[in-house]
Amino acid sequence: MAFETSKDVLDWYESQERTLTKEFIDGLPWHRVRDTPLDEKFIPVLLYMRDVEVLTDMYHRELRRTPTGRDPVIARFMERWGVEEVTHGQVINRFLNEAGHATPEDWQARTMKNVPVSYHAGTYLLTSLTNLLGSRFTATHMAFGAIHEMSTAQAYRRMQELAGHPVLSQILEGIIREEAAHTQFYWNVARLELKKSEAAQKIARKVVETFWRPVGQGSLAKTRAEYSIAMLFSGTEGVDQLDRTVTLRARRLPGFGDLTKVTDRIARICDNFRSKSPAIAASLLLTINLNAVL
Ligand SMILES: [Fe+2]
Ligand SMILES: [Fe+2]
Repeated sequence: MAFETSKDVLDWYESQERTLTKEFIDGLPWHRVRDTPLDEKFIPVLLYMRDVEVLTDMYHRELRRTPTGRDPVIARFMERWGVEEVTHGQVINRFLNEAGHATPEDWQARTMKNVPVSYHAGTYLLTSLTNLLGSRFTATHMAFGAIHEMSTAQAYRRMQELAGHPVLSQILEGIIREEAAHTQFYWNVARLELKKSEAAQKIARKVVETFWRPVGQGSLAKTRAEYSIAMLFSGTEGVDQLDRTVTLRARRLPGFGDLTKVTDRIARICDNFRSKSPAIAASLLLTINLNAVL
């Protein structure tokens, strides 16, 4: 697909039907969830994914303060994007409940409340700074978003492969389709914006190099992010898959030809995790069990 304007990209996105409709969700074989056991080590990962998804609501509010948030095409995309991401979190939560992992009724409010004050302060500063960049920020935001969406989809793909749970796989297949549409939007608008100027390429490249962190890190505990990444990507195969599907695709963006950041960072997290894994795993599983009964 070769789009010429961001409006063309939006039109394409809006022509895509939602996968996770009410009918799709109601039609899932929820009664079969318990037929297949789910390895307990994936529970903290699913909780992390769930929380990242519902926090999109918060990011969305923050992004409205930025120059991209005021761009009518992007703002329109973000309205639907925000709703889709929150559905992803809610469906994952339902799956956990059906699998026998109870979560508090107000889990969504708790997830929001637990975001550290330091995160809000940092974000406020960052969104204020982006206003200084004006429309040049658009390319950065879109490139960042494309990398986030591609890595999220890849995390779900790995979860499908490793957990091997048929109902979870069906849910994740639906989510991945929607993440793929998000990627298309971000990636194509990023390409158009980056093509416009070398300055935009330099800014975007510098920001990704300096600030890129795995999705959710910063708003959620670092240990949770690292545990999830290590569970999904440890081993050469996981890192190679990520390199192929995320870093190499991001490299096709103007100015990103030598990007190694995403693969490097994920590989480092997996390496570091090996030495401290038993302690982190034990503490995460304990917190989760406590959360369920509180
Ligand atoms: Fe999502
Ligand atoms: Fe997404």
